Amino acid sequence: MERRRRRGQAVGQTDNPPGARPSRMAMAVVVVAAAAGLRTQMLRVSSKIPTWYPATFFSSSSVPTVKLFIDGKFVESKTDKWIDFHNPATNEVIGRVPKATQAEMNAAVESCKRAFPSWAETSVLSRQQILLRYQQLIKENLKEVAKLITLEQGKTLADAEGDVFRGLQVVEHACSVTSLLMGETMPSITKDMDIYSYRLPLGVCAGIAPFNFPAMIPLWMFPMAMVCGNTYLMKPSERVPGATMFLAKLLQDSGAPDGTLNIIHGQHEAVNFICDHPDIKAISFVGSNQAGEYIYERGSRNGKRVQANLGAKNHGVVMPDANKENTLNQLVGAAFGAAGQRCMALSTAILVGEAKKWLPELVERAKKLRVNAGDQPGADLGPLITPQAKERVCHIIESGTKEGASILLDGRKIKVKGYEKGNFIGPTIISGVKSNMTCYKEEIFGPVLVVMEAESLDEAIKMVNDNPYGNGTAIFTTNGATARKYSHLVDVGQVGVNVPIPVPLPMFSFTGSRSSFRGDTNFYGKQGIQFYTQLKTITSQWKEEDSLLSAPAVVMPTMGH
Ligand SMILES: *[C@@H]1O[C@H](CO)[C@@H](O)[C@H](O)[C@H]1NC(C)=O
Ligand SMILES: *[C@@H]1O[C@H](CO)[C@@H](O)[C@H](O)[C@H]1NC(C)=O
Repeated sequence: MERRRRRGQAVGQTDNPPGARPSRMAMAVVVVAAAAGLRTQMLRVSSKIPTWYPATFFSSSSVPTVKLFIDGKFVESKTDKWIDFHNPATNEVIGRVPKATQAEMNAAVESCKRAFPSWAETSVLSRQQILLRYQQLIKENLKEVAKLITLEQGKTLADAEGDVFRGLQVVEHACSVTSLLMGETMPSITKDMDIYSYRLPLGVCAGIAPFNFPAMIPLWMFPMAMVCGNTYLMKPSERVPGATMFLAKLLQDSGAPDGTLNIIHGQHEAVNFICDHPDIKAISFVGSNQAGEYIYERGSRNGKRVQANLGAKNHGVVMPDANKENTLNQLVGAAFGAAGQRCMALSTAILVGEAKKWLPELVERAKKLRVNAGDQPGADLGPLITPQAKERVCHIIESGTKEGASILLDGRKIKVKGYEKGNFIGPTIISGVKSNMTCYKEEIFGPVLVVMEAESLDEAIKMVNDNPYGNGTAIFTTNGATARKYSHLVDVGQVGVNVPIPVPLPMFSFTGSRSSFRGDTNFYGKQGIQFYTQLKTITSQWKEEDSLLSAPAVVMPTMGH
């Protein structure tokens, strides 16, 4: 839990002016800008942390200001309402995000709307070419986007790279649009009559993203929508805007025409705007339950398609015949990685029978994890996103004590040297938890593992199925029959067998279920294409007697471009 290097001692930074200690992240952003070929400028955030930002999408005032992306231009908002965003490891202000004005939001939708007809008519092969270039540019800039994520979100650099990488895989999948977008045909339904269907884009679609995966989740949204021929209005989380802005620049550099992607910032007003605007046809949302239920309702009431991934409570069932070494490592990684701020985090372990004897060893392994600022070498988990998030998690841990559970490992008092003001909580393990306790009922979204016990596999299955959420679950066993029975009977959309975080690769869809999902068509995979398209079915009759003989074509036709 020690910082390996003082903040002032970033590589190549030995002669800092007094009072100006560029953070390692500050360096990182320089690299970011250089890599993307962006013009950079030095900005003084406070007397303590001068920081570099890519001036294309951040501009200078007293603090760096995130721009809007409207009609192919990064523009300064004219709003008078701003939201500060912070480095979660220090709570220092990084910059501020505008609450876009109604006029700006309208301009963004107008731009999407203007761009739609020609984008929808652009051949699918040309759209695919843009996505192929985009895939390459994301790959080339992956580490730089990750550094921005660590700065704004707090997760470790390795984890941030994973965040971009999982998004990149969706872009790669979107490149297979040429097979995914095919319709169906049924020839000769009756004499000279065929039926066939097309998959057509919807129009303007919108996405509202959460703070926990600043790159992956936006990349679940606009690339899939756009490759189908839709134009897109994106609202990133106001706490982590940098990755989305960067990804927008890369998309523009890949050749996406102006107006095909627009970005607005804001909070409730922006969300309501998206739910209500008559020109927006579909909304993709990932985030908290409360917001998701609200957006699902309000958007659906206005006749829009909505897909919403909400909260979760994921159970890992540990059978006594499991490979102990592997299981304990997987559990610790999946419960505490990303400081538990993953909706697919394994936040509950159910130890079946003799497996409960492994608890002390689980605690020992959790203790060994190193808590530190995400950009520090060796960090296993970083801070929580805000002081409020930390307070909430501490509160839930406290409720465990009050309601009769035991806290075997308590991370609330952790001190991270050099980052005393950060929102850190160390790994925490609560055991003896019953299903009516607050720490079980609430999604904790912090580095807290809740441990329950069951006598049998059947009892464990019942416990998981009684929980309202159905995002993900895992079973650890070396017995195939046990694994099969569990996968078959458990009522959860995504099941891992000796795999702790079973987020499907993008050729499949993200199949959260029950209270973890609202809508009927999931994110990415074939379902993602279905969500962003509508079918047109054509029944046609060309009578044979009307055909004329024509001269044979002898030249190989070229199509598409
Ligand atoms: C499940 O987990 C994912 C990924 O962490 C998260 O984004 C989502 O909100 C959660 N809920 C559902 C239904 O997917
Ligand atoms: C949970 O249920 C048990 C037994 O029914 C009861 O004794 C206990 O007070 C309940 N705890 C909470 C927090 O509701």
